[in-house]
Amino acid sequence: MIFRYLTRTERILLVLMLALVFAQVYLEFEIPGYMSSITDVLTSYGTPDDIAPYAWRMMLCAFLALGALLANRLLVSYVASGLACRLRSLEFDKVQSFSSADINRFSAASLITRSTNDITQIQNLLTIATVVATKAPLMVVWGLYKILGRGWEWTLATAIGVVLIILIEMLMIFIVVPKYRKMQWLTDNVNRETSEHLAGMRVVRAYNAEAYQRRKFDKANDELTGTALFAARSLSVLNPMMFAVQNILTLSFYILGAVMISAASMPDRLVLFSDMIVFSSYAMLIVVAFILLGDITVIIPRAAVAARRVSEIIEYEPDIRDGEVSESPEGIRGEVEFRNVSFRYGDGGYVLKDISFKAMEGETVAIIGSTGCGKTSLVNLIPRFYDADEGSVFVDGVDVKDYRLDVLHSKIGYVPQRATLFTGSVSDNVNFGAGSSDRTEDDVRRAVAIAQGTEFVEALEGGYDGSVSEKGVNLSGGQKQRISIARALCARPEIFIFDDSFSALDYRTDRDLRDALRRETAGTTTIVVAQRVGTVMDADRILVIDNGELVGNGTHRELMEGCPVYREIALSQLSEEELV
Ligand code: UTP
Ligand code: MG
Repeated sequence: MIFRYLTRTERILLVLMLALVFAQVYLEFEIPGYMSSITDVLTSYGTPDDIAPYAWRMMLCAFLALGALLANRLLVSYVASGLACRLRSLEFDKVQSFSSADINRFSAASLITRSTNDITQIQNLLTIATVVATKAPLMVVWGLYKILGRGWEWTLATAIGVVLIILIEMLMIFIVVPKYRKMQWLTDNVNRETSEHLAGMRVVRAYNAEAYQRRKFDKANDELTGTALFAARSLSVLNPMMFAVQNILTLSFYILGAVMISAASMPDRLVLFSDMIVFSSYAMLIVVAFILLGDITVIIPRAAVAARRVSEIIEYEPDIRDGEVSESPEGIRGEVEFRNVSFRYGDGGYVLKDISFKAMEGETVAIIGSTGCGKTSLVNLIPRFYDADEGSVFVDGVDVKDYRLDVLHSKIGYVPQRATLFTGSVSDNVNFGAGSSDRTEDDVRRAVAIAQGTEFVEALEGGYDGSVSEKGVNLSGGQKQRISIARALCARPEIFIFDDSFSALDYRTDRDLRDALRRETAGTTTIVVAQRVGTVMDADRILVIDNGELVGNGTHRELMEGCPVYREIALSQLSEEELV
């Protein structure tokens, strides 16, 4: 199944590679023939000169076989690393199209193992198994062809050896293979524990929870180690057993030979001796072929699991599928409408129930409500991070499900609740995403200025080129939020979504920022989620969410009179006088 992802050239190279394997086996099997001829010459008292032609040809065969082997290895590693590279980028592209629900379904840790460890398994399989899987059967057939019918004693000894080896291999398949299969899933667990621990390091320290984390990690780690050890121990018992069979077989050839030779008369003795040499060589090649087959019976199931895990991702149909609409109707710009929208995560209870509202062009609509009431869930439906289960969300009069995703996203400037920054400079983080090459340094400065970030950005070492480290850990929470707001401003979208994006700012900066936004982005629809009544008071419209339901929709004044939930929130934060 994974072969589907090979290019034409790689397929041709694979065929060429098979030809090389064929050549190699052929050449290797010529060698015992020459050995037998040399033995014949020696036993008939020939001179070194008589041996020379056979010896030269034998050496030529050996070198050509070596050459074929080398060429083969080069080709295989070329094809295998090409395939691995392609699989990794296919996985990366697919994961980019995943919705948050899709990522949760596979888990981030598993996605990482699947694009690293699993692909390495496939690469290993291709490197080793394609050669062995063609070479071993060829060796067996050829070897049998060469020895069959030339003395039943030798053939019987070989057959007994092969049966023993097959028995040992069966043991391997039953004992080791299931463990190898399990190891991939256990690696996911170790990855999950590691990444969770790294992300939460500060909290772990602050609560002295190292021991607790350690136990969790140890559990995952021990399970993986135990399984790997068991597999390795079983192999380390079974593998030498196969070599023992191989050696006993050689020994039995010589014993058989000795008995038969001593019972025979003179000219027959020489023939028997030469037969013994040839047979033991071919029989060894056959036995080695079976041992090789045993090795790949261990690798193949492991790589098959990996291949399934990788193609599960590559062939996955994301929940969120692209629509076709690439332009919104003429004349409508920046309009957001929810019509009877209900939403739940997976099979859980509804977190949004029958929400309807409309935000017109240029309006500022604020969303307020207690924590966990569904505000983030609501705004996440606009850029289609999730899809509504019932009802529809419209942007500029078109159902968001009908838009091409890139078109929909280009209309929206989204600022998440937790600021997300990327490694790079401040400018890189502000001037981000499609269209960034069309924007200038001035656009970046303007965006940062509106986001009230000029002062701290210019104070950074390097200013706008100052570096932001992974996840922005070298910046404060409020600084990160302002860069993340500037990113949305810089893109000049039709609709802003600020999900509680002012929460880390002090009151003054919060107010200055909102004033600047009103001045500079008039005409752009703004949807702002907030906890502070002060932040939402002057919005054109305020939506009050309570436990997933829309319980208020109006201006501050209207809601103070008609919406008890809003009144309660407002009074808990500000005094009566401040609220008018
Ligand atoms: P929200 O994340 O929408 O709440 O979760 P909120 O209003 O924005 O909360 P704050 O103010 O930022 O804290 C709404 C409900 O959805 C569930 C949560 O349990 C919460 O009760 N939820 C959220 C999920 O089940 N899965 C998720 O991935 C996120
Ligand atoms: Mg939220």
